[in-house]
Amino acid sequence: MAVQINPSILSADFSRLAEEARAVEGADWLHVDVMDNHFVPNLTLGVPVVESLARATDTPLDCHLMIEDPDRWAPAYVEAGAGSVTFHVEAAAAPVRLAREIRAKGARASMALKPATPIEPYEDLLSELDMVLIMTVEPGFGGQAFLDIMLPKIRRTRELIAKHGLEMWLQVDGGVSADTIERCAEAGADVFVAGSAVYGAGDPAEAVRALRAQARETLAGAAWACAH
Ligand code: DX5
Ligand code: ZN
Repeated sequence: MAVQINPSILSADFSRLAEEARAVEGADWLHVDVMDNHFVPNLTLGVPVVESLARATDTPLDCHLMIEDPDRWAPAYVEAGAGSVTFHVEAAAAPVRLAREIRAKGARASMALKPATPIEPYEDLLSELDMVLIMTVEPGFGGQAFLDIMLPKIRRTRELIAKHGLEMWLQVDGGVSADTIERCAEAGADVFVAGSAVYGAGDPAEAVRALRAQARETLAGAAWACAH
């Protein structure tokens, strides 16, 4: 079970994105938060910026689409160079068709759940996906406090993944830091997005290494990971 740390460039300096990407070399993926000011009350960046960023870094891009109508827009992010594309199931009209299209275009397909969205209705969709993202804050902004009440959902999602014998990843996003990453790993997460905890640190690359070491240590003793 490999731990992955994905710094979120939402907490980076948007006027220096290429440099900020290089500041976390050694990260597994660069997490790119796409917000449209409709699905969430904030606006960030779109396809042209992702295209430029993909050219500017060797770190693969993990695009988290917090947008309406991902059925229409998500494929363009694969074409722009994203290695993984996450759509919100609350916004998708046809999540199975969309996941298949993302995969067919050559990227990993992932489905995100807002805090109030349960995982159970989507049990039968899991085999169509490469990753599930459990939001541990309400999407829209970096620097929010981690929602402990999401830990049972992380646990239940990991149980469903195990029940179906799937190899998929379980990502957590929102308020992940040195204080909260162990709880997430213990509950069943193996991919960790961290924005403010990485870019707010004096040495972002060192913050990535420290988070990875912490999560690895927790996973080594976690019941779900040992049984895997
Ligand atoms: C929030 C975004 C997150 C955000 C995380 O809607 O999806 O990726 O950047 O930032 P932190 O780690 O500061 O909570
Ligand atoms: Zn995100």
